[in-house]
Amino acid sequence: MNIGIIGTGYVGLVSGVCLSAIGHTVVCVDNDKEKVKKLRKGIATIYEPGLQELMTKQIKRKKLFFSDSIKEATKRSQVIFIAVGTPSKKNGDADLTYVENVARQIAESMDSYKLIVEKSTVPAETGKRIEHTIKLNLPKQFKARNRSVPFDVASNPEFLREGSAIADFMNPDRVVIGVESKKAEELLKEIYKPLKTKIIVTNITSAEIIKHASNSFLATKISFANALSQICNLVGADVLKVTEGMGYDKRIGASFLNAGIGFGGSCFPKDVDAFIRLSEKSGYDFHLLRAVRQTNEEQKAAFVRLIEDKLWIVKGKTIGVLGLAFKPNTDDMRNAPSVDIINRLQAEGAKIRAHDPQAMEHSKKIFKGVTFCNDAYGVAKGSDCVVVLTEWEEFRQIDFQRLRKAMRQPMIFDGRNLYKNDNLVELGFEYYGIGRGEKS
Ligand code: UDX
Repeated sequence: MNIGIIGTGYVGLVSGVCLSAIGHTVVCVDNDKEKVKKLRKGIATIYEPGLQELMTKQIKRKKLFFSDSIKEATKRSQVIFIAVGTPSKKNGDADLTYVENVARQIAESMDSYKLIVEKSTVPAETGKRIEHTIKLNLPKQFKARNRSVPFDVASNPEFLREGSAIADFMNPDRVVIGVESKKAEELLKEIYKPLKTKIIVTNITSAEIIKHASNSFLATKISFANALSQICNLVGADVLKVTEGMGYDKRIGASFLNAGIGFGGSCFPKDVDAFIRLSEKSGYDFHLLRAVRQTNEEQKAAFVRLIEDKLWIVKGKTIGVLGLAFKPNTDDMRNAPSVDIINRLQAEGAKIRAHDPQAMEHSKKIFKGVTFCNDAYGVAKGSDCVVVLTEWEEFRQIDFQRLRKAMRQPMIFDGRNLYKNDNLVELGFEYYGIGRGEKS
């Protein structure tokens, strides 16, 4: 099938490459001409393991194209996915400016039946808004002769985790499609047929809520684990053991119970905010979710307080930071806990040295006064402590003797419980994890 994807960010580009890999002919559109130029040269404009190789292969197979024209993509495609950004507004609402703008441009370019699919994470009822926008902006020939309006709108939320997005696309737990017509249902079922996976068919609003609810529930699990870590510290329990003991219960499940410095990224914070706002506007105060958000903020503050407590005087101290991205295997810095934590430490007068395997380029645009180093040993040089903020695999392979020699004093704050065993203590480090009690 001929498919158009509007928006080539983390969702749009991965979805476009993967849809072409399962047999469709895909044109990906972006209004950023520089980005389109790079994509046309075969350069992946985001870091996602495996994306560059798969994209190169699909371009070679002439199944994947790039354009800066929504009009061109609309004419060439029967199904057009809207995968543009929906950033959070100050009040927590999702900003749907880009979505409306794209819906209008698609409508103006329509010359035959089209299925328009919202892929971006959008609040419930957005599908209805898109439908209305398209009706208002259809080309005159459709409006003049009052012909039956040749389009459907559907919702097809994504459940891709950054760092494993291709695997998540190719092996989904389920595909969710929110449709209001048999034709739309059949088209989407045909698109995802090669994946041979469970397809949940529902209406548009329910599909939109499935997305919000899934992300918000995962965020709730994380905040529950983070709240547990605070209690474990107070009573002398080990949160790793507590969550391990919980996770064997199939009704709970082990995943997304890792205590740390909180969730970041482009989805969880935004989805939790948007779901709280949507509930409020619909007449329900989602207390539980507000507590999830509050717990997430408190977890970062508690981590800074731990560092202040153990360092004693922060002012003038050199703090080495390992990891900046919101999670490993991505370069994405959106809502990364490292931003709040570094800003707070700098406000206390700390000097920061930092390294991240992938997120340095983005980080250099975000942080001021940070010394960026090429590796962990550069970060440790002359540092009064080292702080782990992202659990990159390469930080597990560190030569700790060498690290210790580079530091002014051997103190480690492990914000992601990366170092689960006690060998650091045996090597003479003062080690502080999350919910692990005090080990030194
Ligand atoms: C998430 C959802 O998992 C995905 O389904 C949705 O489509 C997009 O948002 P993503 O944000 O890419 O994916 O990463 P994820 O692995 O879910 O981690 C989100 C945040 O939670 C990260 O900051 C991570 O560090 C944190 N996290 C995750 C924890 O703190 N503890 C955990 O146990 C798991």
